[in-house]
Amino acid sequence: MHAKLRKAVFPVAGLGSRFLPVTKASPKEMLPIVDKPLIQYAVEEAAAAGITEMIFVTGRNKRAIEDHFDKAYELETELERKNKDVLLDMVRSVLPEGVRCIYIRQAEPLGLGHAVLCAQPVVGDDPFAVLLADDLIDAQPPALCRMAEIFAQTGSSLLGVEEVPKSQTQNYGIVTIDRMDDDTARIHSIVEKPKPADAPSNLGVIGRYVLTPRIFQLLTEVVPGAGGEIQLTDAISALLAHERVLAVRLPGRRYDCGSKIGYLQATFEYGLRHPETGDAFARYLKTRNA
Ligand code: UTP
Repeated sequence: MHAKLRKAVFPVAGLGSRFLPVTKASPKEMLPIVDKPLIQYAVEEAAAAGITEMIFVTGRNKRAIEDHFDKAYELETELERKNKDVLLDMVRSVLPEGVRCIYIRQAEPLGLGHAVLCAQPVVGDDPFAVLLADDLIDAQPPALCRMAEIFAQTGSSLLGVEEVPKSQTQNYGIVTIDRMDDDTARIHSIVEKPKPADAPSNLGVIGRYVLTPRIFQLLTEVVPGAGGEIQLTDAISALLAHERVLAVRLPGRRYDCGSKIGYLQATFEYGLRHPETGDAFARYLKTRNA
């Protein structure tokens, strides 16, 4: 029996430079898809997969995320006074039940690998998930549930993967694998952001990982790579020499909400099926296209 997956790390300390100026004073993970911030979608996905400890690695603009998951006394009192029960329930259920939040500061944005390493004092010797909230995955059951299932069976580190257009390999960690068995395959190699001409495949790593705690030691040994950052990919590459690491083809549709076009696509799709906006938005699109 493998150790249960109970902890998730949410690195939210990046600069979000592709989304300036909105990310000047608030983290990109607080961008809403219709009415819910990206980070809340990710936390709900983790909770559905059985995670009970949500560990946020925050940067200079940390306040908004802490406040979002904290109790909002004044707001709740006001909604109560006005008998706005539906809104009150919504505000109270932002943090799923049975879950606790822990915040750690990454003093400088030294890379995703460095952000994950910052979580070591809280993660300790346990396996853990990493969710990059700007990869919004629309799947039912949620994508991390499938990874938690595979982890329970194998105890192996897992990387969520997806076929990406060959022209975009320089935006992803790219893996080479054995043959896919169902939705899972053993990884042979991983390289960070290769140019299309150098990419060994078009299988890109997306923002869902399950890692064994051995990764921490390897992260301390990583020398800054692409862009002067401490890359998680480089530590995973080192992990391959010690452990079996599996690629998991994730279910559902992923939106790269770290890019403007992915963010707009997600807003469009979620807006079309939101109970409040769906019909009106569909009507608007019809008249607009007529
Ligand atoms: P990105 O590569 O998307 O970088 O980070 P970014 O800074 O967020 O955005 P751009 O590229 O400047 O527009 C991937 C994930 O890693 C986190 C980010 O918050 C994001 O969730 N990250 C990145 C950190 O927490 N710390 C870092 O030092 C770097």
